[in-house]
Amino acid sequence: MLSSFFRLLTRCYQLALPYGRLRLFSVLALILFNGLLQLIGVTSIFPFFALAADPDRIRNSNYGSLFLKALPPIDNNHLLAVTGVFAIVMLIAASIGSMASESIRIRYAFGFSQWLKVRLLSYYATRPYGYFLARNSAELTQKVNDIERFIMGVLLPMGEILTRIVLVLFLIGTVFLVQPYVAIGASVLFGGFYLVAFTILRPKARVIGEKLQHHYVQFYKNLDQFLNGIKTVMVHGRSQHFMGKALEHSSVIGNYQSLIPIYSNGPRYLIEPIAFGGLVAIVVIMALQGRPFSDILPNLAVMGAASMRLLPALQLLFSQLVQVASNSYTLGQLEQEILTIERETENIADQSEKNQELRFENEIKLENITFRYPSDAPPILKNFSITIPKNQSIGIAGPSGSGKSTLVDLLLGLHQAESGYILVDGVELTHKNLSAWRRMIGYVPQDIYLLDETIAENIAFGIERDAVDSLALRAAADAAQILDFIEGLPRGFDTMVGERGVRLSGGQRQRIGLARALYHKPEILILDEATSALDNTTEAAVMQTIHQLQGSMTMITIAHRLSTLERCNRIIQLDGI
Ligand SMILES: Nc1ncnc2c1ncn2[C@@H]1O[C@H](COP(=O)(O)OP(=O)(O)O)[C@@H](O)[C@H]1O
Ligand SMILES: [Mg+2]
Repeated sequence: MLSSFFRLLTRCYQLALPYGRLRLFSVLALILFNGLLQLIGVTSIFPFFALAADPDRIRNSNYGSLFLKALPPIDNNHLLAVTGVFAIVMLIAASIGSMASESIRIRYAFGFSQWLKVRLLSYYATRPYGYFLARNSAELTQKVNDIERFIMGVLLPMGEILTRIVLVLFLIGTVFLVQPYVAIGASVLFGGFYLVAFTILRPKARVIGEKLQHHYVQFYKNLDQFLNGIKTVMVHGRSQHFMGKALEHSSVIGNYQSLIPIYSNGPRYLIEPIAFGGLVAIVVIMALQGRPFSDILPNLAVMGAASMRLLPALQLLFSQLVQVASNSYTLGQLEQEILTIERETENIADQSEKNQELRFENEIKLENITFRYPSDAPPILKNFSITIPKNQSIGIAGPSGSGKSTLVDLLLGLHQAESGYILVDGVELTHKNLSAWRRMIGYVPQDIYLLDETIAENIAFGIERDAVDSLALRAAADAAQILDFIEGLPRGFDTMVGERGVRLSGGQRQRIGLARALYHKPEILILDEATSALDNTTEAAVMQTIHQLQGSMTMITIAHRLSTLERCNRIIQLDGI
């Protein structure tokens, strides 16, 4: 059990090392220092009680006389006052030490949490598109939540645990100096009790942690599906089904959550009578040995004070250990994710390599492209080749599922071809020039992803409202045939579109998508069934503007209506394989 705790400790240490050695060691040193301060705080009341009980005995004792020599002559009452003040000052110092140490530990933990989030999110930002296709978004959100759980459920309690262990060891050590048998007895009694309790409860707590993780992911997944698909869910009359599933998981979560405090607090109620009984027994034994009350009192005071600190410290230690056990799985999750990131970022060469420029004056060439999805055995594209001269307009037709969108995603650099190249003016498209390449492209998919922000922010996309270029905005909206509609709105470009654009019609959403693609004045416009959702009249009007752009930019248009592609320089038919 102890070894597994140390293993956990070293794993936390490994994880925290890249965040900063100095910071980590300062926190650890502080924990130790604070333990010492607590010890001084507790023992500082010993001279006071000893003096109160029998001043002359103390004056004549070895330490006492040594100490008194150092002070100017002083009578008993004044000496009592001095030791009292000393005890109070030391207790206050100990409390301030605890407060300072705790706040520094907490600050460290949250600084570390932020650092982990930066790591994780920057890692996600560099993942290829396929990574997200393969994982559920609720699972990824859970990873971010895991950081929070790790900090609250493992790292912070771990700091507490270390603080308590240091304090408990110091306390027991001190009691050992005064009363060795009492110290040994207390260690065996309390230590044994909590050891047994922990051995029984730890495996249960771990299982609870793992189950909680599973049910949380399922809860959020069902909740997301319910809320994101509310229209479909309602029309199908399945609200109860999705909500019910989410609530089923939340009820299981509640049951498991409630077990953790029961496990971690339960032993407290058993240990209190045991401890009090022990104290009574010691007093009775001392009295039976015929020791005078003046001898028993200071001993009792120290033992009382020590157990006043020892018991809560032990109890807290125990409950933190249970908490850590129930959250230790988050450490595993994060290790996997964060340590992979560490390894990969070490391998990634200079980031500036990624910003290579790319020129497009002549042609885009796809050469013998073969691509298949990881889950999919037959390739979607096989030895596919095409040359697209600059400023030409290419139409792509083909039945649904024939790989049109896949081809576009390859062109956008979202997928990596199994073999073959994409060449721009003879230069191969790689991760190094991908950002330059994407800056040239305006892309309009079939489903426009709209932000719950203003129309202006949706067109400029990812730019703060103040930084939006209003001329470019108007030009883009005009080209997408939506300027009149926007200017007819009471708030114009500052109209909020609602979550996922619920306050707009399908055609309006699509035209905002087109305006978005045109806002940055792209050299290449890619339309993936961009007008399929529009009615004939609107589609004709939008295509009209698109046709006006023909010749001034390179265009790749996917459409299922061949009439849409009429004016293209060339039409490629994909048949699927
Ligand atoms: N992420 C994916 N994983 C596995 N197969 C996929 C994935 N996306 C699409 N496919 C498959 O690839 C084929 C081509 O899809 P797609 O390019 O979207 O067709 P189109 O746009 O021509 O309708 C389909 O058979 C589809 O099932
Ligand atoms: Mg498609």
